[in-house]
Amino acid sequence: MAMSFEEYCRDVFDPKKIFGKPEPLKGKRFLSCTQYILGPSCANYLAELGAEVIKIELPRRGEPMRHTTPFNEPKLYPLSKQMPEMGTGLGFFGANHNEYFLSVDFHKPEGQAIVKMLANKSDGVVENYRAGTFDRWGIGYRQLSQTNPRIIYQWLGGFGGWGPGRKRASYDILGQAQGGCFSVTGWPLDKGGNPSKQTIWIMDYWGGMMGAFQILACMYWRDNVSGLGNFMEYSQVQGAQRHLSDCIALYGRHGLVPQRWGNYDPLVSVHGIIKCGKSSYPNSKNPQELEEGFILVSAYKDADFAKLMKLITRDDLAKKYATHDERIKAESQYEIYPAIEAWAKDKTKEQARDILTKEGINNQPVWNSKEVSNQEHFHLRGELEWLDDPTFGDVQSQGPAFHLSDSPPRHKWAFKPVGADNEYILGKLCGFSKTKMAELEADAVI
Ligand SMILES: CC(C)(COP(=O)(O)OP(=O)(O)OC[C@H]1O[C@@H](n2cnc3c(N)ncnc32)[C@H](O)[C@@H]1OP(=O)(O)O)[C@@H](O)C(=O)NCCC(=O)NCCS
Repeated sequence: MAMSFEEYCRDVFDPKKIFGKPEPLKGKRFLSCTQYILGPSCANYLAELGAEVIKIELPRRGEPMRHTTPFNEPKLYPLSKQMPEMGTGLGFFGANHNEYFLSVDFHKPEGQAIVKMLANKSDGVVENYRAGTFDRWGIGYRQLSQTNPRIIYQWLGGFGGWGPGRKRASYDILGQAQGGCFSVTGWPLDKGGNPSKQTIWIMDYWGGMMGAFQILACMYWRDNVSGLGNFMEYSQVQGAQRHLSDCIALYGRHGLVPQRWGNYDPLVSVHGIIKCGKSSYPNSKNPQELEEGFILVSAYKDADFAKLMKLITRDDLAKKYATHDERIKAESQYEIYPAIEAWAKDKTKEQARDILTKEGINNQPVWNSKEVSNQEHFHLRGELEWLDDPTFGDVQSQGPAFHLSDSPPRHKWAFKPVGADNEYILGKLCGFSKTKMAELEADAVI
């Protein structure tokens, strides 16, 4: 073959060619009745793959996530045409790409009629309100499937629609707390630690991905097997609990409750994050950058561990902990990691990286958002992009996380103001006249 594998990948995944290629979900239409991140990210993944996604929000103010942003700024203006002095906070950013923005008041009978009309012309609905809210409004799966039995309805909730906990409100943080995740995150007590939350909403984005995955399975089943839709329940808490890996099995088999381990790993040693003694940016005005750096080191195979110990001139530890069974004990880890940190005390994370890499020891400095943003690798591959957004101008954004050679995902725009596509969608799919739409807008139905 003339091309190397690298050349082949560079060619078939070339970000510059993406917009000339077909979209795998083109022709599929979904309503996204979603708020915060869990539901929106699910619909976002479908829109990245080319589905026509219509996000439906409360008229004028939109959904709550538009009003969340770090330190109240920066915002992307306007929020809606009725509120040009307000903007959308960056909390909304990242989970609503490529969508059409419609505003509908679900309380009002005319609003509910619009949802029904749209659902009759759609493949599916993504929704993440409380258990039973849409059913109470008469626009849940039970009602919509009467006129569109092919509809695929993905409801993402906190605890599911049945069982004693079903009525509670849920958020990513609650899912992770009840699902058991935080109990194993953070430093152990003898290191002065507490349980620790993830700063990013990892269970929301994971839940959204699970929802999109289930929708694809349902579309396959409908289009190739049954001809029928499906009602899907995704519980955010159970999604979090599903991630506990060995923790539940350990308790079930041995009655042991897994503990927090900080930056050490309870299953693999050495496989953790260590502190270097020096800042990479000693002259920075950013206090975070004045801190010492951190680096991940992974050397759990016996030969790699021996190499690492030799490098840090601790052959004694190489002998003492020559086997993984010895290394993985808690007391061993408490001796090994401080020894590596003692070696890194007079180094920046980049200096540690260079030395470890030269010795063939797997490592990675812990990067901040600025360092991530400036990585050539991500930019070349379209994983970080400067989006020329039609409404907001240049915005730096993460690209879709996966690449498809022949029908790739893509970002066309980040999002739009509340109700920006009311005329387009209601004209195209409901046949409403401009006068009718003006009346609905005056009555705050849309
Ligand atoms: C996020 C959550 C706690 C919010 O709870 P909540 O606002 O009390 O209840 P619901 O989500 O059922 O929303 C109902 C309210 O939405 C408001 N609303 C939002 N969009 C609306 C619209 N387009 N039209 C009319 N009302 C709307 C109304 O005020 C309505 O209140 P009502 O019950 O008086 O009619 C809840 O939706 C939830 O637990 N969802 C599942 C888990 C989840 O996705 N969490 C967020 C991601 S972390």
